Amino acid sequence: ETENSLRPKSMADYIGQKKAKENLSIYIQAAKMRGESLDHTLLYGPPGLGKTTLAGIIAAEMGVNIRVTSGPAIEKAGDLAALLTNLSENDILFIDEIHRLDRAVEEILYPAMEDYALDIIIGKGPSARSIRIDLPKFTLIGATTRAGQMTSPLRDRFGVMLRLELYSPEELCGIVERSAGILNVPCEHEGAFEIARRSRGTPRIANRLLRRVRDFAQVIGTGTIDRKSADIALRALEIDELGLDNVDRRMLKSIIQNYGGGPVGLDTLAATIGEEAITLEDVYEPYLMQIGFLSRTPRGRCVTLQAYRHLNLEPADGQQML
Ligand code: ADE
Repeated sequence: ETENSLRPKSMADYIGQKKAKENLSIYIQAAKMRGESLDHTLLYGPPGLGKTTLAGIIAAEMGVNIRVTSGPAIEKAGDLAALLTNLSENDILFIDEIHRLDRAVEEILYPAMEDYALDIIIGKGPSARSIRIDLPKFTLIGATTRAGQMTSPLRDRFGVMLRLELYSPEELCGIVERSAGILNVPCEHEGAFEIARRSRGTPRIANRLLRRVRDFAQVIGTGTIDRKSADIALRALEIDELGLDNVDRRMLKSIIQNYGGGPVGLDTLAATIGEEAITLEDVYEPYLMQIGFLSRTPRGRCVTLQAYRHLNLEPADGQQML
């Protein structure tokens, strides 16, 4: 009953991301027919959508080993060299948060990705020379929430780029029902749908809320996850009808009450509500934009009329509204 046990292990069990899955299945089949490794693959999109899960599934479908690491965990060029030289033919190296790789480490990756080779400098000064070590053919799978922050030499070396999208409530409902089955907790369709509707398009949030709703259902309900126990739990967690939490609401309210509905720069807004700009941008903004509550303009963030309505706030007289 760990986080990992909820992760699907095959493409057939992976719900949603239809486009990414369809294309990926073709690339996997083609590589297998040719007896080759899969091309280097970049998975990008908001956090919690299943990038690590998908990398594990790719490895399973290709029938190869996967080594999992992350950009910040690879501190020195030698750390990456050690990982690369320990791979077997066609293995997958998965680097999460690949946009956070150190530049010196990143430069080791270029010949590794392109030529399956490691260029090592031996010695110093006039006697320094470079030797080349051959690597097994491997697949690099990179994951990032911000493809735009990667350097173009790195981005350009991925032959396959897949963008993961926020999930629909129906897809999330399927995920919650599947997870409830694995956790062995009785769950009615309406209960699962209530959790799904309020999970901001994100499976990681849906699975976390499922566990919390289970706690409430068990202690103050009948033990079954139904619409009522889900609603009681989600209210207690201060997650509203649309799935917005305290940070979402503080963000929208601050734009309205401190900045007249916007535009306000991201850094200014982050400082005002005491959150990190990157967190707001990666974690909170994608869903608020998807539901049409927030827009990004060249001069900063603006809330929409729909956001005012949801928060029961009135635009000022004569205010221009989106
Ligand atoms: N758990 C997390 N993401 C999932 C997905 N896409 N399908 C099924 N279960 C999941």
